[in-house]
Order: sequence, then C-alpha cells, then structure tokens
Amino acid sequence: MIVFKRLRRQYIILFLSLITICLLVYIKTSQNIVLKRLCSCKTCVMDFMEDEWVVYHFNPKVPPILNRKNSELHQDIYNWWMGLQYSAKKVNYTEVVDQLFSLFPDKEHFSDGGPDRCRTCAVVGNSRNLLGSHYGTLIDIHDVVFRINEGPTKGYERDVGSKTTHRILYPESAVDLDNSTHLVLFPFKIMDMKWLISSFTTRNITRTYIPVKPFIHANKHKVMILHPGFIKYVHERWLHRHGRYPSTGFVTLIFALHVCDEVNVFGFEASSDGTWHHYFDETNNHYNGGPHGGDFENKTMHQLLQRKKISLYKGFTL
Ligand code: C5P
Repeated sequence: MIVFKRLRRQYIILFLSLITICLLVYIKTSQNIVLKRLCSCKTCVMDFMEDEWVVYHFNPKVPPILNRKNSELHQDIYNWWMGLQYSAKKVNYTEVVDQLFSLFPDKEHFSDGGPDRCRTCAVVGNSRNLLGSHYGTLIDIHDVVFRINEGPTKGYERDVGSKTTHRILYPESAVDLDNSTHLVLFPFKIMDMKWLISSFTTRNITRTYIPVKPFIHANKHKVMILHPGFIKYVHERWLHRHGRYPSTGFVTLIFALHVCDEVNVFGFEASSDGTWHHYFDETNNHYNGGPHGGDFENKTMHQLLQRKKISLYKGFTL
C-alpha cells in the first residue's frame, strides 16, 4: 500500500514537471512569434523585414562566402565577373576553385543564426572622420570587427580600436595579418584567387596589373573568399548597377548585414566636398572619380540607417 502511494506521488510530480516545461516552452515560443524576434539583441537586422524597400534589396539566400558546394557560377554571374577582368585568358575557374579548397577551409560559414544569437558587428571604413573620434573602445566591444584594405590600428587605437576579427582585402591592398584575424579575399578577378593560392604556396605572383606583394602573413585556417555571385548581387540589387563594381567598403557593409544581428558602421563617408580622405594617409581622390558609384553607395547606406538596419557613427565632420 505504502509503495503504491509513493509511486502515485512520483507520477504526480513527474506529470506536474512536464506541464511546467511545456508551459515554459510555449511562453518562450509565443513571445518570439509575437515579437518576431530573430535574434537576442535589442534590435535585429532581420526584424521587420516586411519593409518594401528592404524586401527588394535584401536577399538573405545569396551566400556571401564561396565554398566548393556553392562554387558553380550561373552563366550570367560568370559573364559579369569575367567582364571585370583585364585578362582571364588560359585560366580555368574550376581548377582554381579546386586548388583554393584544397588549401583553405571548405565549409558553410555563418550558418549559426537564430533567436538565441546576438552577434554585434562593427564595420570600420577608412575615412578620416575617425580621427579624433575616440571610438576605439566602442569599436573593440563588438563581437566581430571588420576592417578594410590597409586601414591600420597601430598608432590609431584611441580612434579606431585595436581588435580586428576580419579584414577584407585584395592583392593590390593586401597587408600582413595576425594569426587570429580572418583574411576575407574580395576577388575582383580570377587572378586575385590565384594570387591568394600563390601567397600560401609558391609566392611566384608578384604582379597583377601593378606590382603586388608575393606573400602576406595570414592564418590559412582562417581564410575566406567572397562569392563572385554576392558581389554581382550587391552591384545589381543594392546599387542598381551604379559604378562598374561596388567598393570594398560597401560590399563589407552588405556582407555584415547578411551575417550579423546588429551592424554599427564607423569611418564611412567622404568629406563635404566629396574628397575621399583616409585617417592614415594623404589620399584625396574624389569619391565619385573611381570605378564605384560613391554617391549612390552613400545614399543607399543612409536608406539603411533610416530603416534602422544599421547605426552610423559619423565621427568628426570633415
Ligand atoms: O579607400 P578604401 O577603399 O581603402 O577605404 C575602405 C572603405 O572605407 C571604402 O570602400 C569606403 O566604403 C570607406 N571610406 C569612406 N570614406 C572615405 C574613405 C573610405 O566611406 N573617405
């Protein structure tokens, strides 16, 4: 009799515990549904995606990073990308991809998004508006810090920070990286992929259309390559084909939107007269003078700001 009573009590406790667990799961799920929370940050890039402008521009299905599985290029992507090359004779794309992924990680990067993730990202451009900004500490508290091309940290820590998790570069803008930084290649051309391979093997490519470093220091286990289809998508969807191809900074910004939950932008924008000043050198080109649609890129970035997809830290007005 006593054993029977004890067993009944245990069943009741088990039953009540199950009910409690179910209730908790239900409350959590319905909260996510009601609030449409797609990450655990205060605001998420993927929240409120029904805005028409965002729906038109943002296609979360386009993979930003190349791997063996997604490497086959649709004919229209291939043709567009080939159109950017100054010379691609005798280069076999499939062979280059084979070599790339026998050397570098061949995996699906950044496929870990979900309601429990809050990945904060700082996209740090090279504008002189960073000088005197004191943004260093603010930049460094982000989970991911994207830097672009040569943009140095040494000597500029107070204004630009010292952390770099990812550096987006191409052969003509390459610099040495430390072991913890991801090298993200922006392949404007097949030659850029060949240069990357050469930099980690024979070091025999010393020139593209200008002399380039035959070798840079970087961790080969942290190499990533932007997908040519992603660059075309940014050019067409986001920039409506303004400029011949998008700038490294603008592609990095859209890359961040695809892989981060919160995106904060630093060091973007030319000076009021349109001069493209850097915080670390005396560059003073006009921002619409090169192959990029600088003005349109700037307008698109402001649309993202207005629609609360990014925050923009303007630094010091130039
Ligand atoms: O000049 P560079 O291309 O190396 O700069 C990296 C990125 O920083 C640019 O592609 C651009 O998006 C941003 N930038 C900017 N305004 C400047 C300089 C750079 O928006 N004055």
